[in-house]
Amino acid sequence: MGRFRREAGKRGVFADIARACAVGAATFVFGAALAAVTPEKVTPLLPPLQLEPGAVFTEFGPLPPRPDEPPDAVALGARLFEDPRLSGSGQIACASCHNRELAFADGVSRSFGHDRTRLTRNAPSLATVGWMSTLFWDGRADSLEAQALMPILHPDEMRGSLPEVRRRLAADASYRVAFTQAFGDADVTDGRIAQALAAFQRSLSPRRSRYSRFIAGEADALDAAQQRGLALFRGKAGCASCHNGPLLSDQRFHNLGLSFYGRPRQDLGRYAVTGAREDVGAFRTPSLLGVSRTAPYMHNGGLPTLAGVVAFYNAGGARPRPRGDQLDDPLFPETSALLRPRHLTREEQADLVAFLEAL
Ligand code: HEC
Ligand code: HEC
Repeated sequence: MGRFRREAGKRGVFADIARACAVGAATFVFGAALAAVTPEKVTPLLPPLQLEPGAVFTEFGPLPPRPDEPPDAVALGARLFEDPRLSGSGQIACASCHNRELAFADGVSRSFGHDRTRLTRNAPSLATVGWMSTLFWDGRADSLEAQALMPILHPDEMRGSLPEVRRRLAADASYRVAFTQAFGDADVTDGRIAQALAAFQRSLSPRRSRYSRFIAGEADALDAAQQRGLALFRGKAGCASCHNGPLLSDQRFHNLGLSFYGRPRQDLGRYAVTGAREDVGAFRTPSLLGVSRTAPYMHNGGLPTLAGVVAFYNAGGARPRPRGDQLDDPLFPETSALLRPRHLTREEQADLVAFLEAL
């Protein structure tokens, strides 16, 4: 920290380092009293923060290391992840929609599943799932073990049957060896399949990037445009109110106005899980680490480019108005109050995109 601050002063990287250091590493609700500040813990060189009232903020920082997963379970999980025998048709693997070469996403707005059925949502990258406290855009699974069998069983995704999957795997001598190495005996159970898939996914992490080097302490890993973009991200552009902490996600649910409420492509998001009125159209804030590699964007893949995403936020997100017949509808969703027009210039928008590309 000391070294860092001195270097920053020398290079004049940011105008207002002192103010940047005034934010503790703890999570706090903006507006509540700040806990005692321990500047040593703060990642150095972060530009000043501007949060919307009500934002829940955790300071930016490097991803905390995860405990190592048992290597034999990871190896088995990696193999299962690539194996189309987990699907009813024998044609679709987890990797079909979470492709390693595409940062474990699939590069299309909405994935194709069993029999090329078009799914309703965009396949997220899996690079940060080990750090996520809930899974899926609507947070309906709370562990990777709980999540793992869902796509196998989903009729539009892999349309598999667990007895059939167990039978196929147990009939393969090399799988019997792999299960024995991972779990001590050759029994193929649903729980073990889920555990191995989970161990493999927890072993993933985002690639090293300019931002990961910067946040680990390498002051000049970001170029001038990217640093201006970071300052906007934390400041005028208002991104840090939701995209914060080591993942650049508050792991909370927000409505950006993209639910197509009452229209053919309607997606009620978190509401389907909680039944709470305020969750209509709310989706989990995604991590932005590696985001330049996972276009198209949003839960429905509706925004093809990062420039488009920035323009969307610059306009204050989407605020659909109720039609006449929806005026009394108590469920008509309200766009998050954390979004508002930002009046960013063309150059500022380009800087913000440059920063997102460095993630
Ligand atoms: C047909 C495409 C498809 C297949 C096959 C598929 N997925 Fe997915 N996956 C998706 C989509 C789409 C989502 C987002 C769905 C949602 O949020 O409702 C998703 C979400 C996830 C998530 C949550 C990620 C997050 O950030 O919350 C995990 C974990 C995951 N899949 C793992 C798997 C595993 C493991 C398999 C294989 C057993 C698998 N997927 C098979 C398309 C697919
Ligand atoms: C109110 C909280 C909030 C604010 C403020 C916010 N975001 Fe988001 N962001 C989200 C949520 C929630 C999603 C997913 C929404 C959905 O799919 O409907 C998202 C999605 C994204 C995505 C798409 C990621 C992907 O993998 O599809 C990008 C990129 C992004 N935000 C960047 C930004 C930038 C840049 C800013 C500032 C200009 C910003 N966000 C401000 C909550 C927020």
